[in-house]
Amino acid sequence: MNQAIRLGVNVDHVATLRNARGGAHPDPFTIAQACVAAGADGITIHLREDRRHIRDADAEKICAEISVPINFEMAATEEMTTIACRLKPHGVCIVPERRTEITTEGGLDVVSHQAQLKPIIARLNAAGIVVSLFIDPEPAQLEAALAVGAAVVELHTGAYANNRPGELARLTAAAALTTKLGLECHAGHGLTYANVAPIAALPEIRELNIGHYLVGEALLVGLPETIRHMKGLMSAARLVGK
Ligand code: PXP
Repeated sequence: MNQAIRLGVNVDHVATLRNARGGAHPDPFTIAQACVAAGADGITIHLREDRRHIRDADAEKICAEISVPINFEMAATEEMTTIACRLKPHGVCIVPERRTEITTEGGLDVVSHQAQLKPIIARLNAAGIVVSLFIDPEPAQLEAALAVGAAVVELHTGAYANNRPGELARLTAAAALTTKLGLECHAGHGLTYANVAPIAALPEIRELNIGHYLVGEALLVGLPETIRHMKGLMSAARLVGK
């Protein structure tokens, strides 16, 4: 039987909008509260090294005061590990980060960075934080994620969202492999009303993290309606195969 699937809402784009004017509005914390009220199961924030959207004060307040699990995306650096261990979000998702990218491009190369990742993950685990690695749906990356001590992988759905042929099959196989390896499976990037169903239908996937589309759609119909609709599509897809 399919287990429930959670929706984590990424509020980075709210911070981007706020920062465009340099003021305090719209406030990612207030929007995170509204997302929770509308049914979001988690809130995702990415504290980038250059602080281009979420800032330290946002992260502090969201981690301290939002009632649902916080998924704290970060690069595998000393500075971010220290911040995460202090803020103690429910989970950390380690992502690759390049200053010039517009959004997170490509998954983390866990295979090549095992020695760097292992001690960071050990520190986060010791602080009681569940660690996820944002990876492309490749078996070698999944096996490396297990080897470095991660409990969760978030499969990168960006190539699928860009209609790359064969990508749904790769995601399906990778999701199935997570069960064999004993890893919890999440997914995200580029998901929309139009493409979410085949991903939400994969029974191993327990959480989707979605940001850009939800924030854009909310401009048309409002945040509560957008979140309710996305959750409805996810639940309906989940019923397939039940
Ligand atoms: N998951 C991760 C690890 C991400 O970096 C992002 C983008 O910030 C997302 C999910 C959400 O992607 P999108 O904003 O395209 O929904």
